[in-house]
Amino acid sequence: MNICVVGTGYVGLVTGTCFAEFGSNVICVDKDESKIAALKDGKVPIYEPGLDEMIDRNVKAGRLHFSTDLQASVRDSLVVFIAVGTPQGNDGRADLSFVRAVAKAVGENLNSFKVVVTKSTVPAGTGKMVREIMQESCTGEHKFSVASNPEFLREGSAIEDFMRPNRVVVGVEDEMAAAILRDLYRPLYLIETPFVVTDVVTAEMIKYASNAFLATKISYINEMADLAERLGADIHAVAKGMGLDNRIGSKFLHPGPGYGGSCFPKDTRAMLSIAQDAGGDLKIVDAVIRVNDDRIETMMDKITKAAGGSIAGKTFGLLGLAFKPNTDDLRESPAMLILDRLIEAGAKVQAYDPAGMEAAKAEKDRSGVTYCDDEYAAIEGTDAIVLATEWNQFRGLDFDRVKSLVKSPVMIDLRNVYEPETMLSRGFSYVGVGR
Ligand SMILES: NC(=O)c1ccc[n+]([C@@H]2O[C@H](COP(=O)([O-])OP(=O)(O)OC[C@H]3O[C@@H](n4cnc5c(N)ncnc54)[C@H](O)[C@@H]3O)[C@@H](O)[C@H]2O)c1
Repeated sequence: MNICVVGTGYVGLVTGTCFAEFGSNVICVDKDESKIAALKDGKVPIYEPGLDEMIDRNVKAGRLHFSTDLQASVRDSLVVFIAVGTPQGNDGRADLSFVRAVAKAVGENLNSFKVVVTKSTVPAGTGKMVREIMQESCTGEHKFSVASNPEFLREGSAIEDFMRPNRVVVGVEDEMAAAILRDLYRPLYLIETPFVVTDVVTAEMIKYASNAFLATKISYINEMADLAERLGADIHAVAKGMGLDNRIGSKFLHPGPGYGGSCFPKDTRAMLSIAQDAGGDLKIVDAVIRVNDDRIETMMDKITKAAGGSIAGKTFGLLGLAFKPNTDDLRESPAMLILDRLIEAGAKVQAYDPAGMEAAKAEKDRSGVTYCDDEYAAIEGTDAIVLATEWNQFRGLDFDRVKSLVKSPVMIDLRNVYEPETMLSRGFSYVGVGR
């Protein structure tokens, strides 16, 4: 089957590559010429474990192609996936301008029956909008079907998530589109992945409802962590005790500096507008956002206290910049927010992230920040270490070496990577979250 994936970002590139791995003939399209040029040159523009090899294999097999020519790519394809960004607009709503532009171009190039599938996270009703835009821009000569196939992959484990998802959600207008998408996902069907086949608006809502629920779990455990600190309880034991109840589940009960990344913050905010536009409100999601927004302040209080009551003039070693391990994505990363707050407060920061350094340097000029070559260089001569992203390589620090490098042995562990007792026995002043 010939398919085209429009938008070659974290979702589009993984989607296109994995469909090629399934055996389809895939063209990945992006308007960003440098991205496509890099891909054609064998360079992968994002950091995602395992992606390079899979791209290389499928390009060599002749199943995976890259192009900036949206028109030709659409014309050559039976299925068009829209995987462009849907960033937060000024009013908190999802900005659908990229989706609109693609829908218009697909309509203009409708030369045969096609299934047009939104993979981007889009508000309920977007499928209808895509249909209207296409109807206006096409000649009316050919039929098309609009579908929704929201993506649930996580950056850092995107390939595994795509190849072995908990479920595939497909929202369709007709049986023909359902059959085509089922065929496309046939390898997952064969391993008995649950498929939720529903209508378009329901599929669109499933994505937001899922993300908001996951964000709720995070804000909930973070509030509990604050309470545990006040009560002298250990949040890890609390989370374990809670999570063993199957109705609750153990996942996403890890306290920290709040959720970040390219999805949860914007999707929870967009959800409030979606509810408002539909004449309702979402009190729980609203509270989830407020708890998360307060999180950085709580982390800064922790850092200030651990650093002896003031930040100005101190040097911090910041371990981690990405919003989570195994990605170079800095979008709404708590670590980046903390970096900026430390600088604003007059500190110097020595930062290191295994994958996010280039993106951090490219983002903006930050005086007061030294980007270091590794975790030990970032720690050298500092008044305190802030562990902000739990990369595996920060889990096994050589503490004899760390102690010999720092000015004072203070560890502010915002991801609870280390055990408080062990750190104290190593001679560190240690602060975690919720214990
Ligand atoms: N990143 C994630 O972990 C994740 C997970 C699930 C869902 N999503 C959703 O998937 C969508 C894409 O997210 P992402 O992180 O991959 O975004 P991204 O910013 O990494 O990539 C989007 C790409 O679309 C391209 N683009 C924009 N307009 C275009 C056009 N008219 N023609 C061709 N290309 C165009 C951009 O150049 C960019 O390369 C969003 O809706 C997001 O919410 C993301």
